[in-house]
Amino acid sequence: MTRLPKYDIVSIDDLSLREIERIFSLADRFCEALRNAERITLADGLIMATLFYEPSTRTRLSFESAMHRLGGSVISSPDMRASSAAKGETLADTVRVVGSYADLIVLRHPHDGAARVASQYAPCPVINAGDGSREHPTQTLCDLYILRKKKGHLRGLTVALCGDLKYGRTVHSLIYALARFGANIVAVPTAGMDVPDYVLDRVRAESNYSFSTVSMEEMKSLAGRLDALYLTPSAPHQMALFTAEMPIEKLPAPAPKALDAFYVTRMQKERMADKGAESGEYVRFDARALKGSRAHEAVVMHPLPRTSELAYELDSDPRAIYFEQAAAGVPVRMALVAWMLEHAAVAERPPLPGLPVVRLRAEAAPRCPNANCVSRFEGSYLAPRFRLGRSGAGNVLMLRCDYCDRELAVEFVGHVRTRRYYRFEENLLSYVREWIEEGSLAVFDTVKQAEEAGYEPYRRGPQREIMNAEQVAEAVESLAGQAVADLPDMSRVMLVGVISRGAMLAMRLRDLIEARTGVRPPCAALDAYAGADAIRALDGPEEISTDGRVVVLVDDVINSGWTVQRAMAMLWEKGRPAGMKLAVLIDRGHRAVPIRPNYVGKNIPTSRSERVQVRLEMPDPKARTRARDRVTVYSMVEPMKEAESAE
Ligand code: NCD
Repeated sequence: MTRLPKYDIVSIDDLSLREIERIFSLADRFCEALRNAERITLADGLIMATLFYEPSTRTRLSFESAMHRLGGSVISSPDMRASSAAKGETLADTVRVVGSYADLIVLRHPHDGAARVASQYAPCPVINAGDGSREHPTQTLCDLYILRKKKGHLRGLTVALCGDLKYGRTVHSLIYALARFGANIVAVPTAGMDVPDYVLDRVRAESNYSFSTVSMEEMKSLAGRLDALYLTPSAPHQMALFTAEMPIEKLPAPAPKALDAFYVTRMQKERMADKGAESGEYVRFDARALKGSRAHEAVVMHPLPRTSELAYELDSDPRAIYFEQAAAGVPVRMALVAWMLEHAAVAERPPLPGLPVVRLRAEAAPRCPNANCVSRFEGSYLAPRFRLGRSGAGNVLMLRCDYCDRELAVEFVGHVRTRRYYRFEENLLSYVREWIEEGSLAVFDTVKQAEEAGYEPYRRGPQREIMNAEQVAEAVESLAGQAVADLPDMSRVMLVGVISRGAMLAMRLRDLIEARTGVRPPCAALDAYAGADAIRALDGPEEISTDGRVVVLVDDVINSGWTVQRAMAMLWEKGRPAGMKLAVLIDRGHRAVPIRPNYVGKNIPTSRSERVQVRLEMPDPKARTRARDRVTVYSMVEPMKEAESAE
C-alpha cells in the first residue's frame, strides 16, 4: 500500500493550473472507467476519514463514493455533534487522532480557516470540503471541469456570478480559479451580498485581476446590452490606463461578448449573523434570463442545493448543467486522490509562492477582525497568525489573517526591543519586513494602546526642504496647465483626490482649471482604505456619477503605486468612466507597479530609503500661495540604526 503525501488542499490556490489540468485529465479517465464499470484498485488499503461539522449531501457522499470506487475505504463522522467535539475537543486534537486512523481527512467546518488549522495539526493530508464562508476548492474543481467540458476551454469565458457572493464559499474559490484561468467575471450580487473586499484584494494582489459588478436591475437587461458593460478583466486595462502611450480613451472598446455561464447560488442563511437580512429580494433565475441575444448560449450552473433561486422549469433545458456538476463530484474527487497518489513518493511539496508569515509575539499580536475566524473559537492553543498583506498599501500596514484571509489595517507599528512606536508609512515597509523576520514587530490600533504597552514615539531624522510654498504653487499651476492642454472638453471632466492631500490638491486644481477655462469640474474625495462610502463629493451632498466622465485622479506623491492602483480599481467598481488620468504633485521616480502619471507637478528623484512629505494648508479660495505649503524629504534609515544600537 502506498501512502499519500502530505498535500493539503485548503484553497483552490493550493493547486497550480497545471495540476488542475492534470486532475481534469485523470477525471476524464475515471468518467470512462465508471461508464465501463471498471474495477479500480488504485487506493486499495487506503482509508479516508470524512469529518463533517456541517450538513452535506453531495460533497461527503461523492468523496466517500470516490474513495470506494478507487478501491479504498472510508470512516465517517457525518455529524460531529455526535462526536467528542460536542464535549469541547479542539479541532487540533480531533484531527491529530483521526489522522492516526486514516490516510486522508476530508473536513467540512463552519469556521473560516478551519481547514488551514486542521492541515497544520493532522499527520495526514487534509482536503477542505468547505470552511465557513471562505472556500470550497473541490466544488470549484467540479464546476470548472464541467464548464470546460461544455465550452472546450476556460480562458476568455465570461461567467456571471449571481446571488449571495458574500458568504458563498463556492463562489470565492471559483473567483480565484477563474481569475487564474483568465476568464472574465461579472458579479451580480443580491443587494448587500457583494463579493467581500478580502476576496477582491486577494485576486487583485495575486492575479492582478479585477472585475465588474452589475446590479440585479442591470442584470435583468444584461443579456441584451452586454456590449455596454466592461466585461474583460480590468487588470490589463489598469496597467495601461495611466501610461502616456495608452490613455483609456484610446483603448479599443470591449468587444461585444456573449455570456458563457450563469453561476447561481443559494442564499447562505446559516452564515448570516443578521437573520433579518434574508427578507430582501433575492435573485430568481428562470428561463427568461436565457432569452436575450447574448445569453442564449449560456449554461446555467449551481453548486446545489438550490432553494427558490433557481426555477425547476430550467431542469429540462440542455443549458442547465447543475446536475452534471454534482455528478462530476465522483470522478473529479477520484482524480484528486489519484493525483495525490501520483506524488506519493514526494513527501514534502515545494511551497507555492505566498506572502511571508508575520511572526508576532503573543503580547504584541492583534486579534483577527473576522468574527467567524477559526482563531476566535479554538482557544488558546491557536495564536492569531498573519501574513503580510498587499505591500505598501498607503499609510497602513496590511496584515492578512493566515487562517481566514481577512485583512487587518494596522496604523501603528512598534519595535519590541527599542520600545519605539511609529505611525506606519510606506517607506517603513522594508524595516517592518526585517522586524517581522526577527520577530520584533509589535502592532497597535492606537497611540494610546502603544503608550499603555510602554512604547515611546519615534522621532525621525533631519529633514531637508526641497520645495517652498512658491514652488508648490508653481507645481500645482503646472499640473492645471497640463490637464487643460490635454483635456479639450472640460465639461466631461471630474477630479477625484485621494484623501487627504490628494483631495486638497484636487480642490486647488479645480479652482485653477476654472480660472483658465471657465468650467468648474466636479470634485470628489476618495478614501482608498475605507469600505462603503469611500468616494464622496466635495461640493455638496449629492452623489456624482463617474459614468461617461474623464476622471482625473489626483494624489500628492506616488510611492509604491499601490494606493493609486487600488483607487483606480475602486473607481472602476463604482462606475463606468470614459477615461482616467493621473495627476501627481511629485513623481519620485520608482514604484512597485507600472503606473505612469499623465500630469506631473515636479520630478524629484529620491532614494528608496527617503520619504517625501508634502504639507498643504487647508484651501483658502482667495490665496494663490499658502505660506506653510512645503515639500520635505527625510531619511528613514534611523529606525533600524536605533534597533541596532539597542542590542
Ligand atoms: C455548497 C456548500 O456547502 O458550500 N454545497 C456544495 O458543497 N455543493 C453550496 C451551498 O451550500 O449553498
